[in-house]
Order: sequence, then structure tokens, then C-alpha cells
Amino acid sequence: MKELQKIKELDARYFMNTFGPRFPVAFDSGEGCTLFDTEGKPYIDFFAGIAVNVLGYAHPRFTAAVQEQCARLIHTSNFYYVGPQARLAQALVTHSCADRVFFTNSGAEANEGAIKLARKYFYEKGEKRYEIITAKHSFHGRTLAALAATGQEKYHAPFEPMPPSFRYVPYDDAAAVEAAVNETTCAVMLEPIQGEGGVIEPGEGYLQAVQDICRRHGLLFILDEVQTGMGRTGKLFCHEQCGVEPDIITLAKALGNGVPIGAFLAKQEAAAAFKPGDHGSTFGGNPLSCTAGLAVLHELLSTNLLEHTQKTGAYFKEALTKLMGSHSVIAGVRGRGLMLGMQLADKVPAREIALKALKKGFVIGTAAGNTLRFVPPLVIQRGHIDALTRCLDSVFKSLNHQTPKEGTK
Ligand SMILES: Cc1ncc(COP(=O)(O)O)c(C=O)c1O
Repeated sequence: MKELQKIKELDARYFMNTFGPRFPVAFDSGEGCTLFDTEGKPYIDFFAGIAVNVLGYAHPRFTAAVQEQCARLIHTSNFYYVGPQARLAQALVTHSCADRVFFTNSGAEANEGAIKLARKYFYEKGEKRYEIITAKHSFHGRTLAALAATGQEKYHAPFEPMPPSFRYVPYDDAAAVEAAVNETTCAVMLEPIQGEGGVIEPGEGYLQAVQDICRRHGLLFILDEVQTGMGRTGKLFCHEQCGVEPDIITLAKALGNGVPIGAFLAKQEAAAAFKPGDHGSTFGGNPLSCTAGLAVLHELLSTNLLEHTQKTGAYFKEALTKLMGSHSVIAGVRGRGLMLGMQLADKVPAREIALKALKKGFVIGTAAGNTLRFVPPLVIQRGHIDALTRCLDSVFKSLNHQTPKEGTK
């Protein structure tokens, strides 16, 4: 029996079925931007494990750093001082507008921490403010409070009642934020670009306008940079490109290049609200994950990877936009840096296109039903992009053949 078949059978028998039918492949190894499946077939990766593997696979310096730390010490607990944790906190503070950091294991947990910190900030001030304004179509994670913050009804319904005190407003509409503020509001929490919601980039000035609202009403401004952070859009943080300075920033995904780690960063005034005992984590910020974070930051800051991301992202966006000219099935191309989305015509399911691309040796993602999502390793090269656009061109052509034009038989 083939290895993939064996894995599929084990998965069907023993794993909780939360992911539905998965794409029919199991990856076994990787190098650079190429993944190899259990049969040894290569795939060019434009998904990076959902915007995680920024350095690609088997990156020599990253791998050596993590291997060395594995052999030395993986975990101790936060009852003791942790060298790599202190050094990663220092590095993140040095290169951001924040003053302090807390490490988690995932993006959802980073957002949970941010939500707790916002509430504690006003508790310390003796003010009864606890409600958080978030955006419709947002995605903040799967734990209960992060899910409640997520402005998508479909994720809430099976788990009602949701933790209360979240209010949802249309994205990219600052007036709606202003109108939603009330005496109990403590914060506004947004993604600088909505990822799972379909790679939706707000209009220029939106985040600045929301920041102004927060400042005027004394609210905390929280940016969820779990997907956009750590170089994805061509800067260390996407908000640097938007001219804002949030009070709290959340990170995960790319921070560990695949080693699980998340973080929330805060300005001193907000961070000071957390006192001993207010928050904690067994694994969060352990020596292994923080060594991974340090290695990622080192690559982003000491090589030309951020500039490469900007240039390659612009090249990629132009290539995808050009495809629009030949295929009416493409309704739009959006995004920034190496976080791009291709909106397909209404009834074209993105998953089917992704499946066809997979068969041709390309891993691409989907979002919001009919958007193709491209969040490759940041080390992706123009040659990979050219190969993908040729592949998409042929996939879209094959669709045209399948759907005869009206009036033809
Ligand atoms: C913007 C954003 N926030 C939070 C999360 C949740 O992160 P995690 O899956 O690591 O809990 C995601 C995951 O896709 C995300 O895109």
C-alpha cells in the first residue's frame, strides 16, 4: 500500500474530522520553496503552511540554530529565566513600536492575551470598559474569545453562547467604528489586511482614522498581525506601511518559521496592566521556539529578504493581474508584498482550482470560498512565479473548455 493511502486510513480512523477532506497529498520533506510528497514528487510551494514558512524549507542557518538548541535544551518552564526568550523579547522591542512582549504558542493565544490585556488595562484604571470592536469577515483564531472576536457568524453558531462583549463593524469603514464606540468600549482590534476573509486590503487612511478614533476615546488600538507580521508584506510589520503605531500587536505564524510560537507586544502603558499571576503559559516562550524566532528575525533583518519581498511581491501581483486580461474567470487581484489574493468569478470554487494546480505540482491556498491565496515562502524567486502563472493560465484555459459559451452546444 502506498504511504499516502496508509496515512489517509490512519487519519480517517483516529483523527477528529475537523479538516474535512484534505488535499490528497502528504508532504515528507522540503528544500527552499519546494516540497516533496511521500512519493518523491516535487511541488513549488505558494502557501508556506498558511503563511508560516517564511524562510522556506531546510534553510541552512535556521535549521542549524534550531538543531543546536534541540540538542542543548528544549524546555524549562517560565519559573526560571529563559535566555532565548529574553533575547527575542529584546529584539522584537528594538525593532517595533512596542515596549514589552509575552510569548504564546499560537495566533489565537496571542489574541486571547491581547484581549485580556485590554480588559486588565481598564480594570487597573477602575473603569468598566470591556467591549472590543472588531471587523466583519475578520479572523482571529479558534479559541473561544478569539472566535468571539472573529466577525464571522458561521464560526460562532455551533458554539453559542459566545463569550460576550464583542461588537462587529464593516471593515474599511472608520465611521462605523466611531458609531460603535460606547461607554463600555475598551479597544478596537483589526487585521491590517484581512487574510482568511479573502485578502482584503483596506483603503489608504483607514487604519490611521481608526487610530485617531481610539486616541480620541482613550481606547486601545490592537492590530492582529498574526498573518501580516514578520515580513509578509515587505516590512517587519505591515502597520509600518500604514503610518500607525498600535498599542498592542499580535504575532504568530512566521515568527517561528514552523516552530510553534506566538506573541503579543504592547506599549509600556498597556503592558504595565499585567501583574504577576495575571497571565501565563507552560510552553510559551520556551528556549526552542524563541531560538527559532531569533533565527527568523536575524534573517529578516540581516539579509535583503524584506526588500526581496517587496520587489518579488510587486512582480507577482503584476503577473497575476496580467492573467486577468486573458481569463474572465478572474474577478480581481489584491494584496501587498507576498500576501496576494485572486478573486474568482462568483461560482468558481477556489478549491477546485487549487486541486488542479496541486496535480500540476503547485501548492496554493484558498480563502473565503472563491479567492485563491498566495502566501509563499519569502525566499520565492521570479522563476517560481513564472512557472505558477503558466500553470494557472493552463488551468483557467481548461475551465474555458469545460464551460461552453452560451448559445453553443
Ligand atoms: C489574522 C489571524 N489571526 C489569528 C489567527 C489564528 O492563528 P492560529 O491558527 O495560530 O491560532 C490566524 C490564523 O489564520 C490569522 O490569520
